[in-house]
Amino acid sequence: MPMQYAIETTELTKGYKNKIAVDRLNLRVGEGEIFGFLGPNGAGKTTTILMLLGLTEPTFGSARVCGYDPTREPLKVKRMAGYLPEKVGFYDDMTARQNLEYTAALNGLSTGAAKKKIDELLELVGLVDVAEHKVGTFSHGMKQRLGIADVMIKDPKIAFFDEPTAGIDPEGTDQVLTLIRGMARRNVTVFISSHQLHQVQKVCTRVGIMANGRLVAEGSVDELGRKVIGGGKFRIEAQVSPVSDRLLTVVRGVRGVSNVDVEGDRLLISCDEDIRPQIARAIIDSESLLLQMKIEEYSLDDIYLRYFRD
Ligand SMILES: Nc1ncnc2c1ncn2[C@@H]1O[C@H](COP(=O)(O)OP(=O)(O)OP(=O)(O)O)[C@@H](O)[C@H]1O
Ligand SMILES: [Mg+2]
Repeated sequence: MPMQYAIETTELTKGYKNKIAVDRLNLRVGEGEIFGFLGPNGAGKTTTILMLLGLTEPTFGSARVCGYDPTREPLKVKRMAGYLPEKVGFYDDMTARQNLEYTAALNGLSTGAAKKKIDELLELVGLVDVAEHKVGTFSHGMKQRLGIADVMIKDPKIAFFDEPTAGIDPEGTDQVLTLIRGMARRNVTVFISSHQLHQVQKVCTRVGIMANGRLVAEGSVDELGRKVIGGGKFRIEAQVSPVSDRLLTVVRGVRGVSNVDVEGDRLLISCDEDIRPQIARAIIDSESLLLQMKIEEYSLDDIYLRYFRD
């Protein structure tokens, strides 16, 4: 049986009058993945999500979401997919429970099934105590959690979150991310657009980086980090004196070193493990002085910055 992707796009393109918002996007997201779709403002993230949901038509190319073409079979996709837009639209003068009841009715749940489901979800997202309060009185973080409950009402196979943690405080963000992780554990595929890298790094199995409508990088944070930092998971920075040819040869020969760059009197050593003791010994054996040494694990920020610097 051929591998079924939750999302598959082929040269997916959206052009506006004088702007290509999404440019020949080829993307594959496996079932049960949490995929982080990253990029600065205007990169084309929301436009991509709208095309995947069948809410806007591509100019060129095609997509499949859970096996269906969102342009030709939008209703089938909508039945499978949950969507939390950038700006969540709830009825402010209705209570949390009433808003969820409304969504349940739209999705054809019976009153009995809806009540049970809504009780469970309010519990899950921590809004039981305010279930009968009007949503207009909710904080942004509470609205986002209600938004997650709203997405989960119909038991989606795939969920799209557009900037789910924008403008939420750290505690609220953790709650949202925990809920998203919980969804993936129940085998829901999750697609998150964001520019908040630390958070994405915490939950995503894989990320794609968009710039000007194009996918400029794709992979696990680990894979991308290795590429950017020159082949290793860590970077050891050693300030030495002098930087001799002999020293470089010896350090490059240390087991576990995948690359060594020189910047002034500093060696930037990429490696897969913390091999600071071995590096220190190599430096001393080469009769150079070790002035300072530190180690860094790459982060998604490094990766991201590297792509936007170049
Ligand atoms: N309806 C539209 N008409 C014309 N241009 C549009 C339209 N929608 C989006 N664009 C343009 O397409 C580009 C991509 O926009 P999009 O909203 O997809 O970016 P984004 O990555 O979601 O950005 P943000 O992080 O700000 O949400 C932008 O240059 C935007 O101005
Ligand atoms: Mg957007």
